[in-house]
Amino acid sequence: MRILGIETSCDETAAAVVGTTGDPARPWRMLSNVISSQTDIHREWGGVVPEIASRQHVRDICGVVERAMTDAGVVWRDLDALAVTQGPGLVGSLLVGVSFAKAAAAALGRPIVAVHHLAGHIESIFLEHGAIPLPAVILVVSGGHTSLYFVPEPGQYHLVGRTRDDAAGEAYDKVARLLGLGYPGGPAIDRLAREGDDMAVDLPRPRFTHADRNPPPAELVAGGFPASVARLAEFSFSGLKTAVVRHLAQRGVAGTTGLAVPIDAGRLSDQDTADFCASFQRVVVETLVDRTFATARALGARSIGIAGGVSANSRLRRDAQARGEAEGLPVFVPSIALSTDNAAMIAAAGLRKLERGDVAALHFNAQAALAIG
Ligand code: KG4
Ligand code: ZN
Repeated sequence: MRILGIETSCDETAAAVVGTTGDPARPWRMLSNVISSQTDIHREWGGVVPEIASRQHVRDICGVVERAMTDAGVVWRDLDALAVTQGPGLVGSLLVGVSFAKAAAAALGRPIVAVHHLAGHIESIFLEHGAIPLPAVILVVSGGHTSLYFVPEPGQYHLVGRTRDDAAGEAYDKVARLLGLGYPGGPAIDRLAREGDDMAVDLPRPRFTHADRNPPPAELVAGGFPASVARLAEFSFSGLKTAVVRHLAQRGVAGTTGLAVPIDAGRLSDQDTADFCASFQRVVVETLVDRTFATARALGARSIGIAGGVSANSRLRRDAQARGEAEGLPVFVPSIALSTDNAAMIAAAGLRKLERGDVAALHFNAQAALAIG
């Protein structure tokens, strides 16, 4: 069985062909994985401009799909099905992929599978590593999401908790912007942090004081997890961003009113900038790792997975692996190419749904907000 995956939820136009192997330990094989990134276009604006993104997807989609088919050595009639990201994401961007995939499915008379973007990120771990010990707790950490999922069986994703405000990748991007490091911020901070002292700047660890003030409720929260566990799985990064703004203001680099104030990042020395990046990264990574391991312990998980753009972060990968080895809990992270947005993960998630006969009717639509299921 061979499936063509298409991903256009944000600023990457991506297509990939994934095939089944018949081996339950490694059920899928990636035959191609093509990504056309719009980063260079959006960098000028300091972030993704939705209207520009959707128009660029229209320009790129045909070439990207053709390349994915050529790289895989297949022609249209070799495909057994199509999979496409239905949401969540930018609706204009999603629509390009959804419309293209629907047209191709209709023309070929092949089934189409509608995939949740975060199910794709979760399945990137299974595409890379095959069957991992279950149940697993999987952290999806990207520019738009910071969420912990409980995966008891392949293809079952139960949301345990998520960020209350900014995603971790968003915090990276905003702090990088404050420091004048450009877009996207994650890779730039990751690189500079290697030269810095991670204890140089005292930034606060996100805490949830309301949990201390209120007695723990006995009821189960949505999804059937005890409230005490769901709380372990919550994140918050907007306070950290404010702390960064304040700190820069104290140093005379930024105004006190926040992000709207122009920053004279040139007033920080290279070493100060590196120290700042290292300190910020330490706080973010410690928070992600601590909460993921605490949730995994509380739910009796046999392994941990980390996926999404921020899982490309060198310190997150290193610290999570080291903690996993120390605690005897295996940690699985996709390769860098499968960490950030790609279509191979969408094809894999599509195969997972196809196995269950979960095929979409052709009138399904792109959805900016979409629950996983
Ligand atoms: O999964 P992704 O490609 O797109 C979304 O679904 O959001 O994630 C993009 C995010 C951006 O915020 C980017 O800054 C972050 O992932 N990112 C990183 C690194 N590489 C990408 N964050 C920290 N360290 C990195 N090395
Ligand atoms: Zn993503």
